[in-house]
Amino acid sequence: MFITFEGIDGSGKTTQSELLANYLKQIRGENNVILTREPGGTNFAEKIRGILLKNSIDPISELLLLISMRYEHVKKVILPALKEGKIVICDRFIDSTIAYQGYGLGIDLELIQDLHKLVKIKRPNVTFILDIDVQIGLNRAKDKNKYEKMNTSFYYKVQKGFQEIAIKEPDRCSIITEIKAKDNNQVHVEIINKITSTMQ
Ligand code: TYD
Repeated sequence: MFITFEGIDGSGKTTQSELLANYLKQIRGENNVILTREPGGTNFAEKIRGILLKNSIDPISELLLLISMRYEHVKKVILPALKEGKIVICDRFIDSTIAYQGYGLGIDLELIQDLHKLVKIKRPNVTFILDIDVQIGLNRAKDKNKYEKMNTSFYYKVQKGFQEIAIKEPDRCSIITEIKAKDNNQVHVEIINKITSTMQ
């Protein structure tokens, strides 16, 4: 089973993907669950991640780089683990590219989809979209990378991207709203409930 977490910066994806991984490791066994992330997930891609998140390049160059990193990640980490029957949890995946590079930076969505034909997996089994208020998310994220320094209008477009993905693919996507009114544990329980019903 392939599970992804998506959302704007500061939405709490990393915390929630870790909580879910720990929960699933307890019920499925430590070695049967893999937690990984993008951009990154392989030695190569983790090295590029640091450079990518600090330096601005042309959006198309950036898109090609992200897809190249994703190709490595899918081929060398995600697919082999899925073939062994493991559960793979990934903190960001293709939807981030659609939301950030597509909706946010304005790259044609079809071009993004077409380039992803190179990548073997296009659809995770379940995607959690953590939909937090843009201002709250950005206050939490605190300018750690170049995207977090973009203006808020960029983030409103990215947020809209994630919301539209959730509307277009309700079978795959589970959107979690009103995060500010919930604590991490409440969000975690919502996620576990969804995963439990999907695994049955
Ligand atoms: P993330 O790991 O969520 O940030 P951090 O843990 O440092 O807070 O993601 C890094 C950034 O990369 C995030 O701002 C979104 C961006 N990103 C894209 O623009 N496109 C992509 O395809 C991916 C995977 C990430």
